[in-house]
Amino acid sequence: MKRTHTVAILGHGVVGRGVCDLITNNQRELVHYLGCEVKIAHILDLRDFPDSPYGELVTHLFDDILLDESVETVIEAMGGSHPAYEYTQAALSAGKNVITSNKEVVANFGDKLVRLAAENGVSYRFEAAVGGGIPVIAPMLSSIRQNRILEVRGILNGTTNYILTKMFTYGDSFESALSDAQALGYAEKNPDADILGTDSARKIAILTALALDMLPSVDEIHTEGITGIRASDVRFAESIGHRIKLLGRCISNGGKPVVCVAPFLIPCESPLASVNGVYNAVEIVAEPLGNVMFYGQGAGAGATASAIVGDMIPIVTGGGYNPIVPGFNRAEHFIRAEFSTFSSRFYIAADERHRDELTVLLEAEPYSEEGGEVVYITKEMTEKEMDALTERFEGELLSKIRFI
Ligand code: HSE
Repeated sequence: MKRTHTVAILGHGVVGRGVCDLITNNQRELVHYLGCEVKIAHILDLRDFPDSPYGELVTHLFDDILLDESVETVIEAMGGSHPAYEYTQAALSAGKNVITSNKEVVANFGDKLVRLAAENGVSYRFEAAVGGGIPVIAPMLSSIRQNRILEVRGILNGTTNYILTKMFTYGDSFESALSDAQALGYAEKNPDADILGTDSARKIAILTALALDMLPSVDEIHTEGITGIRASDVRFAESIGHRIKLLGRCISNGGKPVVCVAPFLIPCESPLASVNGVYNAVEIVAEPLGNVMFYGQGAGAGATASAIVGDMIPIVTGGGYNPIVPGFNRAEHFIRAEFSTFSSRFYIAADERHRDELTVLLEAEPYSEEGGEVVYITKEMTEKEMDALTERFEGELLSKIRFI
């Protein structure tokens, strides 16, 4: 029996350290499942870690890893597109497997990298890139692949869900909830990627590739974050038995997929409404399966490390999934176009001076009026129709949030 699987880890931040801890502390479990020990040969980081138990393994030179023939798998936990992409290319080309938690690289370059891995007879795996510790990529590639997927929708960003939950439960301000999330290690280095929805867009792009066999460009996905959500929106949602959640959605729409990221009003009885804190969930609607939901901790050291090390199992035992390749064809220039046909009801809040005009335009009586604001719940309409109706209020509506 092969006795050791040797890995190198790129990055010694929250995730990289979590992987070191898991490999060190769960060696017995790894031996049991993999049939061999796992050895960490190198850790690449710009910094030194004299006080870390892994400090001796740190190198500042990627070549120490690339040229070490004993390294079979490179774990990329650096974040950011560059140089993570170039290091991944080099490792795959050198015949090393790569496991990553880096959704930015998978969403931007996944089409090239899965092909490069296949050409070199190695694996490129990214379970940790979506939903942190939740196993969702593997089931989408295996146990539910025989279904026709109608929709994938998910709470894909722990930081924003943590913020929305704190605003809802404790009435916290946006800023104080964000700094808590940063202190807990959930947020990206630059939290704009979380709060503006980009991180969720990267993740729904990856899920779209798996669900519909086409990888959209992230900048083609209609993306709204949570920076415009007001405490009064959260209270309004509660008053009508709803929650506000930032969702990534990929709807097959009869072959004309709609992919978007935006805050949605979700009825309390929907399972997604009760996903709180840093937890993520991915709900898949498929034919003939029906609805399934995957739920778990979407960020943080232990959860992400679990998904990364889990990706080692098929590599070491040889039971790998390879149908990733056809799904990662780049799809250009249609996702944004189809969003104009997306249809929903809207919650609209505006200054009361717009009352008369909005009542006519929206063909709806105000739902409520309070504190100088007027609130509407519209009939179902397309994005195109809503844009045409509210064009003249550009920048003046206080809130415009869709119902799921
Ligand atoms: N910043 C991300 C989040 C980390 O909050 O979900 C996990 O991808």
